[in-house]
Amino acid sequence: MERLAIQGGNPLRGIVRIGGAKNAALPIMAACLAVEGRTTLRNVPDLTDVRTLSDVLTRLGLKVTRDVDNHLTIEEGGGPRSQVADYELVRQMRASVCVLGPLLGRYGEARVALPGGCQIGHRPLDLHLKGLEALGASIRIEHGDIIASATKLRGTTIDLAGPRGSTVTGTCNLMTAAVFAEGETVIEHAAREPEVCDLAEFLRDCGAIINGHGTETIRIAGSAPLYGTDYAIIPDRIEAATFMTAVAATGGAARIEGLRLDHLESVLEWAAAAGINVKPAGPDAIHVAGGGALKACDFAARPYPGIPTDVQAQLSAILCTAPGTSVVVDTVFPDRFLHVPELQRMGAKIERDGNRIRITGVSRLSGTAVRATDLRASAALVIAGLAAEGTTVIDDLPHLDRGYEHLDRKLRSLGAKVARVSAEL
Ligand code: EPZ
Repeated sequence: MERLAIQGGNPLRGIVRIGGAKNAALPIMAACLAVEGRTTLRNVPDLTDVRTLSDVLTRLGLKVTRDVDNHLTIEEGGGPRSQVADYELVRQMRASVCVLGPLLGRYGEARVALPGGCQIGHRPLDLHLKGLEALGASIRIEHGDIIASATKLRGTTIDLAGPRGSTVTGTCNLMTAAVFAEGETVIEHAAREPEVCDLAEFLRDCGAIINGHGTETIRIAGSAPLYGTDYAIIPDRIEAATFMTAVAATGGAARIEGLRLDHLESVLEWAAAAGINVKPAGPDAIHVAGGGALKACDFAARPYPGIPTDVQAQLSAILCTAPGTSVVVDTVFPDRFLHVPELQRMGAKIERDGNRIRITGVSRLSGTAVRATDLRASAALVIAGLAAEGTTVIDDLPHLDRGYEHLDRKLRSLGAKVARVSAEL
């Protein structure tokens, strides 16, 4: 098992380019199950999760090929068609649940394993299933699988309001299935995330009639069939926020480009309030100049357009050395704090109270051996290690590789002393 060894204290300097958004690529790839002919997807990040979903699609009968420029070609005719995504695949990545809507919509049946537990907390699928039943599907759970079938889906109004906001992949599943329903479907309290909008734009490119995405009310006309297209995935706002935080934490200065400023408004607002010197540098870039005096700055992770829960761990990491006390709340995943004990091993002063943590800034963290527990927690440990005194060694790298494309290579290009070492060292 590889580890990441990070020599702290090197200011990151230079230019780094952001890749395609993982959480847009995954539902769009899954939606290709509902599309006839051939689709080319551009700006698809080369991540473990993307490779896992490519395997799932291949087993479901599609042909998926990747070329050098992060283009994926997805077309029918790869092999025998199936509508079963088994546990072996789904347990590797819960986002495989995104195949449910496309399969049910296009083929009237789907069997998808329940994803099982998750490090960031309880993640039910009740809203997905309730929505599909509202469209006329019959759903049963048997031997750990969701078994869905429908002779005909009928447009209806679906309310996706959940106890902690809407559901991103639930909105994706229902939007895609609704394309195959008779009549119009209205999704109330839909997720507004840019990744949901990207899927809507992809489906429209394939011929779907969808309006209102980006607001809480999305309208989908029964507009199947869908035909293959050529589509570029939006940049990854979470990767952009991760790099912004890493540069600021090391007191460096860098240009982060290939991003969408409009997807980062709440994060940039918080960063300025926390004393991070970040400014727009053109329509698709920001310039971060660290070295300014960090300030304690509370925030709550919320559904879009709020600060994303997917950057909560990373922002918490930089707050560990901001003078004063910061309160961080995660309203989306109340248990998403597995990074806290690891940061405490590095000397962070953090107290947890349910879905909130109280961080008291210390002068500097100290490097040590830590364990990655989930994708974004591992990014938080990288940020902490880059700024800490001494060496930090992060174990369990597969978590990091699931969601970040060549993170250590990109960090080295900014001057970080980061290397993958084999576990026995
Ligand atoms: C998506 O997960 C993202 N994953 C997550 O990113 C992200 O953290 C999350 O949205 C929130 O923004 C992908 O897009 C592949 P939800 P998803 O359904 O769709 C509750 C990462 O790090 N809920 O929006 O699974 C749920 O428990 C990953 O890249 C229900 O109650 O999240 C949670 O509290 C981690 N019933 C809240 O809603 C349901 O049926 C939001 O969950 C579904 C969800």
